[in-house]
Amino acid sequence: MVSHSQPDRRWLTAHGAEQEALHGRAAELTRSHFGRRVFVRGVVEVSNHCRENCHYCGMRRDNRALARFRARHDQLAELLIHHRPASLTDVNIQTGEDPVAVREVVVPLVRTLRRETPLGVSVCLGTLTEALYDELQAAGASLYIIKFELSDAARYEQLEAPGTLAERLRHIRLLAARGWRVSSGFIAGLPDQGADDLLANLRLARELPLDGCSVSPFIPGEATPLGHAPVGAVDAALNCMAALRLLRSEWVIPAVSALNLTGADDGYQRGLRAGANLCTINLTPSEIRGDYLLYKRERFIMNEERVLHAISAAGREVSRTSLAEHWPAKPLAIPVLAG
Ligand code: 5AD
Repeated sequence: MVSHSQPDRRWLTAHGAEQEALHGRAAELTRSHFGRRVFVRGVVEVSNHCRENCHYCGMRRDNRALARFRARHDQLAELLIHHRPASLTDVNIQTGEDPVAVREVVVPLVRTLRRETPLGVSVCLGTLTEALYDELQAAGASLYIIKFELSDAARYEQLEAPGTLAERLRHIRLLAARGWRVSSGFIAGLPDQGADDLLANLRLARELPLDGCSVSPFIPGEATPLGHAPVGAVDAALNCMAALRLLRSEWVIPAVSALNLTGADDGYQRGLRAGANLCTINLTPSEIRGDYLLYKRERFIMNEERVLHAISAAGREVSRTSLAEHWPAKPLAIPVLAG
C-alpha cells in the first residue's frame, strides 16, 4: 500500500461504507509500518499557569476563576520512578505556557527521569526561547510536542492562539532543525470550521518537518468564550486521523482522550482503528488534575486499565520499544565545526 501525496477532500466527509473503507486503509497502513504495536506513554501535567489566552482553552490567562498550581519536582519524581504503570515506555511532561515551571520543575525532572529510569521523555510546554529548548534537550528530552492548532492565520489571531501562526510554524521548524523529534497537531471542529479548513490543516501538517501529528476534536471549554459552541464531530476528527495516516505511514498518531468527550462512547477505540498508534495514561496526581482545565472538569481520565482495555479490544498490543528508541538520534541540520 502506498502513501498519498496530497489529501483528498472526500476523506473528510466520508461516512458509512466509504468511511469504513477509509479507516480500514489507514489501519492497514499503520499495521504494515508498525505491526500491531501501540506506544504507551504517561503524561504528567506539571503547571496550569499560562500566559496565553486561547479562546478554546480553559487555562487561558483571562480565566481568573481557576486555581493555579505548580507541581513539585520531588512529588513527580517519586511517582514516576517508583509508582508508574509497568506498560509505560515514555513520559510526556506538559504545562500551560509557563517558563518558570519549565526552569524550576521540568528541566530538573527531565534530568532525574533520564538518570533514574529507562523512560523516553517528551515535552509539551508551548513556545519558549531557544535557550530553554536547548536546556531541555541537554537534560535528555527528545520529542517536542507543539501544535499549530489551526492553519488559517486570520482565525488563529482571532482565537488568540499562541503568538502568531507564522511564529508557531517557525518554532516547529527550528525545533526540528535543532535535532528534536517534533509532533504537532490541530483541533478539528472549531466553530465555523468546514471541510476546506480541515483540508488546509492536513496540507499544512504534511508540509512540516514532523514525526507525528495529533487531531483533537473541539470540546467547548468551561469558562471560555467558546463555551456555548457546539462540540466538534467525532467523525470529522477520526477522518482527519485516517487522512494523516494515509499521508504519512511512518508518523506517530495519538488516540487523544478528547475522543471520549464528544458524546460518542467508542471514539477512543475507533481512533485506534483509524490509524492511531499511541495511547496516553494520565498520571497527574488527582489533587491537581481537576485544575488542569483544557475543556471541562469532568474529563474522561484514561488510566492504565482503560488504555490496556482499548488496545486489546482493538486487536493491538503494547510496544516494548519506547518512542525515544523508535526514533534514532537525528542528524543535525547545522553542522558542528571540528577543532
Ligand atoms: N478542544 C479541543 N482541544 C483543545 N485543546 C485545548 N483546548 C481545547 C478544546 N477546547 C488542545 C489544544 C492545545 C492542547 C493542550 O489541547 O490543541 O494545544
